[in-house]
Amino acid sequence: MKVAVVGTGYVGLVTAVCFARIGIKVAAVDKDPNKIQALRAGKSPIYEPGIEDLLRSGIEEGRLTFHTQLAEALENARVVFICVGTPQSQDGHANLDYVFQVASEIGECISLKPRYKDSLIVATKSTVPVGTAANIKKIIEDHLISKAVSSSFEVVSNPEFLKEGDAINDFMNPDRVVIGCHSKETEGVMHKLYGPILNNNDAAWFCMKPESSELTKYASNAMLATRISFINEIANLSEKVGANIDDVKKAVGADKRIGQSFLNPGPGFGGSCFPKDVSALLTLGDRAGEDLKVIRATLQTNQYQKKILLKKISRLFSIDPSDTTQPLADRRITVWGLAFKANTDDVRESISLDLVRDLVRLGAEVVAHDYIAIDNFRTIMSQEAILITYDSDPIKASMNSDLLVIVTEWADYKKIDLEKVGSIMKYKQIIDARNLFSPYELIRSGWMYDSIGRPKDKDKDK
Ligand code: UGA
Repeated sequence: MKVAVVGTGYVGLVTAVCFARIGIKVAAVDKDPNKIQALRAGKSPIYEPGIEDLLRSGIEEGRLTFHTQLAEALENARVVFICVGTPQSQDGHANLDYVFQVASEIGECISLKPRYKDSLIVATKSTVPVGTAANIKKIIEDHLISKAVSSSFEVVSNPEFLKEGDAINDFMNPDRVVIGCHSKETEGVMHKLYGPILNNNDAAWFCMKPESSELTKYASNAMLATRISFINEIANLSEKVGANIDDVKKAVGADKRIGQSFLNPGPGFGGSCFPKDVSALLTLGDRAGEDLKVIRATLQTNQYQKKILLKKISRLFSIDPSDTTQPLADRRITVWGLAFKANTDDVRESISLDLVRDLVRLGAEVVAHDYIAIDNFRTIMSQEAILITYDSDPIKASMNSDLLVIVTEWADYKKIDLEKVGSIMKYKQIIDARNLFSPYELIRSGWMYDSIGRPKDKDKDK
């Protein structure tokens, strides 16, 4: 079987290299010729652990090709996956311009070269609002009608559940594969396509109406985001009432009905998915006349949490965060972690963006470190004419600092000798938004150490 994949971003590229890995012929398309040239040379435009190995083996073994022309990629393809971006519009809804543009191009291609034997399956992996499969169908049909040709095709929804930084593993070892389609034959083709993945682990297979499949994707992301907002609230409360969130979350998560994952408190959720998808679900509810109160609260709690670091910093230096007289002018603050989470170079909706903007507005001198996200962060800061310093060495970045703020949970930060860091800082002060270190140990060795939802005193609370 051959498939075409349109869009070579995080979702498209992972889909393409993984299908190639399991023996499917894949033709991937992107409009950007520079990207396609780099991909043909085995260079991934995104950082994702393991992706370049799969990219190179796919190309070398002749299963993976890259194109700038959709018509070329569609040649003999049984399924075409739409994997283009659905950025957030002004009104919170998902912007479907790219998706509809691809649908229109698919319609154009198949109306010029109708298919008679096997019908084309048009599968949407982009995260799209409920009803989009029906709209894509209409766009393709309009092309066929305008050219007075008939060609059979079916539009299916096939949402992705890939976490950046672990996306290859999520694709190869999914908890479930969800398909939204109407025909048994189409379900059979999709099942065959995912066969090697389904056979290798206990992945569940769900086939449902496209509307249900589209909603499953939003509901999944919203559920995970809600857990994070929930645990962040409990963490903030823990600080106020003298509890320790580490103990609380372990004991709460031990209930099998609740579970341990996605219960890590932090500086609020970011990234290209949760903030955008939760807003889009809320807008979908508004448009459907259903007020989604829990979803609204999830976003509100996250807005609050995104400012938690600023609150803690303001308290530490006894300043008012709305003060316009640059009250942090004599402070040097080091930020560890610019990516929205560990194991990615992606800084979209990263908490560090907001934090650094605030610190610079308040007059602080900021020195930032990240293992791989510095270039992406610098691009955004330059566009906004925000000047900060970057250091590729986390220890050197803390030289003469009044405060070290940890925003991203890179595992390597935990291996750093904090005594060394403390010996070159102006003051031994850390605010750790990812709870990477032990409060007791640090406070005992003379640090001012604040984290999320944990005590600030040096005695173990048990
Ligand atoms: C998320 C979902 O996890 C994927 O299943 C989904 O396919 C993807 O969105 C998507 O829609 O494409 P991703 O945004 O890559 O994946 O990253 P996550 O690992 O989910 O993290 C999202 C945010 O939540 C990050 O800011 C992270 O730091 C934060 N988070 C996550 C927490 O604060 N606490 C946690 O316990 C887990």
